[in-house]
Amino acid sequence: MIETPLREVYARRRSSHWRDRLRRLLEPPAPLIHNPQEDPGFPVGARNLYLGGAGSLTPGYLNVDLLATPEVDVVANAEALPFRPAVFDRVECDAVLEHVRHPDRVIREITRVLRPGGYAHLVTPFCHPFHAYPDDYRRFTPQGLKLLLPPELEVIHEGWRTGPAATMLVFTLEFVKQLLPWRLWRIAAHGVLGWTLWPLRYLDLLFFRRNDAGRLGNHCFLWVRKRERPHS
Ligand SMILES: C[S@@+](CC[C@H](N)C(=O)[O-])C[C@H]1O[C@@H](n2cnc3c(N)ncnc32)[C@H](O)[C@@H]1O
Repeated sequence: MIETPLREVYARRRSSHWRDRLRRLLEPPAPLIHNPQEDPGFPVGARNLYLGGAGSLTPGYLNVDLLATPEVDVVANAEALPFRPAVFDRVECDAVLEHVRHPDRVIREITRVLRPGGYAHLVTPFCHPFHAYPDDYRRFTPQGLKLLLPPELEVIHEGWRTGPAATMLVFTLEFVKQLLPWRLWRIAAHGVLGWTLWPLRYLDLLFFRRNDAGRLGNHCFLWVRKRERPHS
């Protein structure tokens, strides 16, 4: 399947053309909810870095992306960040590691630019459809994601951001759309199914309490902190 180029996807999000406004108005609610346990309320620092935010406003964060959009402050590859070591209090890396060629290099860069005691928030997909932003290379289990961490980073909180209900809804929508030959039909199916099925997303509130949510989890998260002293 050839996806709409990423730049167009982002441009449509902020476009004020009547057709895009109408599309946003008719867009069904997201087929997912976030785990309320995900944000333990770690304070945001004075200098914060957001990786891969070309499609969103990131107030309080310096926004870095490969793609130059009005939201981006610095155009750079997250595998080689143009910043001095230990300058950021917080790094947000949400749904980016599946799109980079070398996720280990990105984690190394996050570790380098974080100050000792600083936090990073990593979010990665496990069961999620292919989405080229601008490429899509892999999926992660929480164990696989943790294998990428250097000893300087300690995990302080982990879990599932979006659970099995999100997985089933997202895949059902994609599957039905893939059966349909014409774009207009796919848009109609997205609207009809999206508006019909979205309340099922609340089933994840039950799954988040269970320890087997990860069998079909959609996205997992890690909160990590850079150690103040070298790990022995
Ligand atoms: C799935 S989107 C992230 C969505 C974002 N977290 C949000 O919630 O709006 C992935 C983003 O990462 C960016 N990206 C992909 N590879 C990158 C790289 N090597 N360095 C910097 N940004 C990259 C893409 O351009 C895209 O904007």
